Amino acid sequence: MQDLLAKFSSQLLTNPYPAYHVIRKLDPVHWSESWQSWFVSRYEDVASLMKDNRLSVSQVGKFSHRLEGEGEMDEARAQLAKIEVWLASFLLFTDPPAHTRLRGLISKAFTPRSVELLAPVVQERVDRLLEPLQTGQVVDLMEQLAVPLPVMTIADFLGSRPQDYRELAGWSHDLASFLGDEYLSPQSVARSLGSLEGMAGYFQSLMEERRRKPEEDLMSRLLQAQHEGSTLKESEILSMCILLFGAGHDTTTNFIANGLLALLQHPSESSKLVQQPELLDRVVEEVLRFDSPSLIAVRSVLQELEVGGKTLLPGDSVNLCMGAANRDPGQFPDPDKFRVERQNGNHIPFGKGIHFCVGSFLARLEARTVFATFLRKWPNSRLAAPPERIPTLAFRRLKHLKVELLA
Ligand code: HEM
Repeated sequence: MQDLLAKFSSQLLTNPYPAYHVIRKLDPVHWSESWQSWFVSRYEDVASLMKDNRLSVSQVGKFSHRLEGEGEMDEARAQLAKIEVWLASFLLFTDPPAHTRLRGLISKAFTPRSVELLAPVVQERVDRLLEPLQTGQVVDLMEQLAVPLPVMTIADFLGSRPQDYRELAGWSHDLASFLGDEYLSPQSVARSLGSLEGMAGYFQSLMEERRRKPEEDLMSRLLQAQHEGSTLKESEILSMCILLFGAGHDTTTNFIANGLLALLQHPSESSKLVQQPELLDRVVEEVLRFDSPSLIAVRSVLQELEVGGKTLLPGDSVNLCMGAANRDPGQFPDPDKFRVERQNGNHIPFGKGIHFCVGSFLARLEARTVFATFLRKWPNSRLAAPPERIPTLAFRRLKHLKVELLA
């Protein structure tokens, strides 16, 4: 079988859905030589492998082969090893039993109720970000809304100061590049380690402040969290904050932007929402299915297993493609149609099983608030320029979203 990921490499970066359909049809559990990984694209397989404990989320040893370039390689390798120690402590990259304990503790601190309490704050933020914009103006909604809102929200939720948003976002961006880049230079490794240590130092001082004087924020709740006789160590709280900050904003930016884009590109669907605001929750779910903010979850095989007639061996890398699963015609009729009235078909934008997204409530709250407020203010808005995507394999990210605001 030809390497389908190599064949469709450029489409996968910007408009992956037609390629996903071809790959799913020809070879739903596909070995790619160029990716050195399996690519799983059928809904049924992705959903079941996400719950399969024969697969691991550990990232240990996954980065050293990406390091190349000129410069101090020994130093870069030592720095890379330090980054890997940090990553190994992140909930997202931890298998049971360590995962079970950490997840129990975060679930005590990060509850649906704590997110609900944030609803008026999110509404106020959205109103404040939209306030300076005028009807008739052409604006970039990435810059004005989809990028700043999630950073501010997660920073607030954690308990950090508003003046620190930008620095935190810069550090977190470096870490995201480290995780996503195909090649790592000694310079980018040094920058990523500096950013990780910058974030750790920042959250360390916030932790000390909250230890002295607890507030109504996640940092204070993490310090108090107890589950089955266990509490979080200081180093675990730092790892959790770094992960929550990173996981909590870029994906939500994509969610908000992809949703606004889908509504603008489907005016007859968005007018249904204007006329029937009770459809809002369905719209939120349809956006998550139609243009999933995060496309791929990575695993490695611990124990041999059979999927779709293929044998996956210990050590094999596996890409579980949520983006393809959420467009699988076997699960969703007419999957390429954006339909605001679609009934939930168990889409999997937030994963499944033990690693199911901790922040799904928060992401949904932000997107729901944006879609409702935007359509109330400017229901007849139009795209002012073709949308431009940032070429990435794992995320659906827009560069700009230029819109003419029309009431
Ligand atoms: C639309 C926005 C979001 C999307 C699409 C998304 C997607 C995901 C996915 C797919 C996973 C599972 C990954 C896997 O199985 O390998 C995950 C896990 C996670 N997400 Fe999200 N996420 C979003 C927003 C958030 C927010 C707002 C936060 C925090 C404030 C967050 C925190 C986490 C954490 C901590 C995990 C790891 C859970 C674990 O391993 O037990 N996410 N997310």
